[in-house]
Amino acid sequence: MENKPFFLRDPWVYKPEAERSPRPDARLGFETRALHAGFHPLRDVEQFRAFAPPLIQSMTYPYPSFDQFPDYIYGRSKTPTTSVLEERLASLEGGQACVTAGSGSQALFNLVFTIARPGDNVVTTLNTFGEGYKQAASIFPERCNVEFRFVKNFTDPKAWDRLIDKRTRLVWVETPSNPVLLVTDIAAIAEVAHAHGVPLMVDNTTATAALQQPMSLGADIVLLSLTKFLSGNATVLGGAVIGPEALVEDIRWNTTEFVGAILQPFEAWLMLHYLETLSLRMERHSANAQKVAEFLENHPKVRKVNYPGLKSHPQHELSQKQMKSGGGLLSFVVPGGMSGAAAVMNHLQLIVHAVTFGTSRSIVMHPRTITHEHMTQAERDVAGIDDGLIRMSVGLEDANDLIADLDQALHIL
Ligand SMILES: Cc1ncc(COP(=O)(O)O)c(C=O)c1O
Repeated sequence: MENKPFFLRDPWVYKPEAERSPRPDARLGFETRALHAGFHPLRDVEQFRAFAPPLIQSMTYPYPSFDQFPDYIYGRSKTPTTSVLEERLASLEGGQACVTAGSGSQALFNLVFTIARPGDNVVTTLNTFGEGYKQAASIFPERCNVEFRFVKNFTDPKAWDRLIDKRTRLVWVETPSNPVLLVTDIAAIAEVAHAHGVPLMVDNTTATAALQQPMSLGADIVLLSLTKFLSGNATVLGGAVIGPEALVEDIRWNTTEFVGAILQPFEAWLMLHYLETLSLRMERHSANAQKVAEFLENHPKVRKVNYPGLKSHPQHELSQKQMKSGGGLLSFVVPGGMSGAAAVMNHLQLIVHAVTFGTSRSIVMHPRTITHEHMTQAERDVAGIDDGLIRMSVGLEDANDLIADLDQALHIL
């Protein structure tokens, strides 16, 4: 006898073979998909005959007749403009389907909430974004009895293998990681996870699909913050999960349909326009970051630079294999700990101090006090969050101006 409430679906079960079918648009280049996936001006929204995807800012959709359901019913489950964005993001990542969320952090919450049950666990590292760590270290264990296991020696596949057991529902890799830019071997960890029948999720926020294609390396699920490089100018807060259709629909059912954890149509509409230039922007972010990283590495007042594009980066070779270029994010350590970092950041004139990254204008941020403040000192030591660490999101300005600004600020030390 069925005694569960009617609205609880059977949870998604990972079936690797069934969920690796190539997308029909995979033959098109990345730049073409960034412009065309999910929307054709004539074919799809014929009544508008609009060149740009229309913004449909409606939260309810009339029934054609009493017993005829419209494609869209109510804004808590999905809306037309957001569906175009979901199709485009799925296409760019090479996944079957996508469900958006109000932020990247919410997307992570929706994913874990959907696939883990009390007593289950998730295997990851301490090299994740700050809110992700907070969900992993306290919200899920304390409120849902879902344990997060942190791999210390993340470059060793056996270290991942040892932490996975029968209750592991997900392996979660963030690469390059925020804020220390560590690079994890996606293909190697996919192999380990799959040997246990566990899906691999890769957070592709820092590299974006323009520079790194986790699914082509074996990832089953991609997590994204749209807030960062994907939007590119700090005007949207959003997130997404890309993965097998059955999982995506499970997330949509659990956390959007019933809870309303959605991306609003206007944000989706902005995103569709921002994604058109993603590839070009990432090229420029990377070229500028490479120049800034090389400058910082040779500066006598800088103790350490974390940037995958530098030959000195411990996973430089792997990053060259796995990514098109080093990306737009770097971090560096100045002497003097917290007060050294504060002095440099206070003396920057062009580069602003703010809590995000991936914007066209360059930004710095102090992880020790702002995003990773809740870690214990021992955890920060493992994660490489030094008191003097400054994260820099390298923008699209003239690189020489960024270098000049950093140079004059570093002279304060
Ligand atoms: C790698 C990574 N993933 C996800 C997120 C979460 O994104 P949001 O700020 O949209 O919640 C962040 C935020 O810093 C991030 O750095």
